[in-house]
Amino acid sequence: MQSPLIPRTTRTDNRIIRLAVPEDAVALGHIQAASHQATYAGIMPDSILVRLSAERLIERFRSRLNASAEAHLAPVVASPNRLWVVHVNGAVAGYAATQPGASTFLPPPHGAGEIESLYLHPDAKGLGLGRALHQHAIDDLVARGFGPLVLWAFAANRQALRFYERAGWVLDKAGENWVLDGVACPIVRYRLPVARSATASTGPTIDAQKRGVPGSRPRQIRPETT
Ligand SMILES: CC(C)(COP(=O)(O)OP(=O)(O)OC[C@H]1O[C@@H](n2cnc3c(N)ncnc32)[C@H](O)[C@@H]1OP(=O)(O)O)[C@@H](O)C(=O)NCCC(=O)NCCS
Repeated sequence: MQSPLIPRTTRTDNRIIRLAVPEDAVALGHIQAASHQATYAGIMPDSILVRLSAERLIERFRSRLNASAEAHLAPVVASPNRLWVVHVNGAVAGYAATQPGASTFLPPPHGAGEIESLYLHPDAKGLGLGRALHQHAIDDLVARGFGPLVLWAFAANRQALRFYERAGWVLDKAGENWVLDGVACPIVRYRLPVARSATASTGPTIDAQKRGVPGSRPRQIRPETT
């Protein structure tokens, strides 16, 4: 039986999703820079995008991962903030971060878990990797007993919002802004209701049921039944 405290790894033939390690920092910095440049033109202020530096991002990932490296060796006491990477045929293609609901913009709902980020390298989009990472992130949060799940996105990031809506997320809060370089950028909170298990603190809750979403393949999400 899988303990909710032990981060799990998902493996398929050519794809692995696992916790990030310090050696991933270079790939992660390049992915964040490339993904932000490709996704956020016209959404984030240009003044931020022109200053994006893969080198600075690499350093930021490196210090975060070095700080948690020791905890990764002892996963039972691992940080509640988890950074996951998907790699395909040996190369890191994207990442997702899961954490307890944060108060960065608004107080989170009681008991919430949060997908703090989900980014693929632009060349890795449209292959189903985002869906796999997203499912892994949900499974991780549900296994740890969080519910509901929330995430924040730019209101203008229509492609990402469509992706989340197809997976069952619903708009929860609108009308907030993230002020970047003095520019108010509208953001929205999305929510995914999940059934919180009374056994979450002692056992896994990730026996996800398959749920059909119109026009797509079934996804593994445990929607609230109420
Ligand atoms: C949002 C994001 C993570 C989604 O990931 P993705 O891999 O592109 O999305 P999917 O997993 O749904 O795959 C996209 C398409 O590939 C298809 N696909 C799924 N599995 C596949 C497979 N094994 N082989 C080929 N295609 C596949 C899907 O059917 C989907 O097509 P559809 O949109 O017509 O349904 C990704 O696009 C991304 O990184 N965007 C930029 C960053 C961003 O906006 N992040 C969110 C911040 S809040």
